[in-house]
Amino acid sequence: MVLIDGKATAAQIKAEIKEEVEQIVSKGGKRPHLAAVLVGHDGGSETYVKNKVLACEACGFQSTLIRFEDDITEETLLAEVEKLNRDESIDGFIVQLPLPKHISEQKVIEAIDYRKDVDGFHPINVGRMAIGLPCYVSATPKGILELLKRYEVPTSGRKCVILGRSNIVGKPMAQLMMQKQYGDSTVTVCHSHSATLRKECQEADIIIAAIGKPGFLTADMVKPGAAIIDVGTTRVPDATRKSGFRLCGDVDFEHVSPLCSFITPVPGGVGPMTICMLMQNTLSAAKKEYYR
Ligand code: GUN
Repeated sequence: MVLIDGKATAAQIKAEIKEEVEQIVSKGGKRPHLAAVLVGHDGGSETYVKNKVLACEACGFQSTLIRFEDDITEETLLAEVEKLNRDESIDGFIVQLPLPKHISEQKVIEAIDYRKDVDGFHPINVGRMAIGLPCYVSATPKGILELLKRYEVPTSGRKCVILGRSNIVGKPMAQLMMQKQYGDSTVTVCHSHSATLRKECQEADIIIAAIGKPGFLTADMVKPGAAIIDVGTTRVPDATRKSGFRLCGDVDFEHVSPLCSFITPVPGGVGPMTICMLMQNTLSAAKKEYYR
């Protein structure tokens, strides 16, 4: 069994990005600049955004954090998005999700200029990704593809089961794993209402679990030699930890890991790659790689 080290891979990629940034700057080019909008004080969002700012520092980027209280109106938030769209010093920006209930996330996402949408959530980027055109690919699926590539996990012609159908992970992952230029796999998407979920998993060569249920994928559901990617990050209360919780994946790691060919741990697997891919998208934005 090969343990896929997302933390080390992410550190290596961030070093590669930093080297490229310093080359750009030494030739008189501009430092990439990412802005992040954070609404309210959700613990998970605070941590993610803090880590995004730290990743910017590690990559030699400029970063700007814009905070609002959770009683901000949709109108004010949309005006901020418009301001960031027009700000030429900012290459790309993200609005951290989830947003408070009184704000339409879809409206906010669609207000972002797709050329600065380094999250890859705007329908133009989602659509271009689905038909294999150059675009910002959302960070979690992009990070998983990068791990599969760097660890040379065989995917072409293999059966890949994706657990979960979210817009952020399940749906884009399925699109990418099916495409010839990425996974080139035979893809099945399972979700909470899939009658044949267990059987599909038992027949899979690759399982990408993004269902948000700790320990959901058990050893009896996994074919020996399968490759397992765990996207789960549920916070489970744990009094022995300083933070008061621990992160739990969707995979019963203890019993599944001895069976499989490759596996990602939680934490230290997919998580660190996600932020690192946001940095890659921001570098692409600064270089105007996809859009002028
Ligand atoms: N919330 C959870 N994941 C993400 C992400 O990748 N981007 C944003 N903007 N919000 C998130």
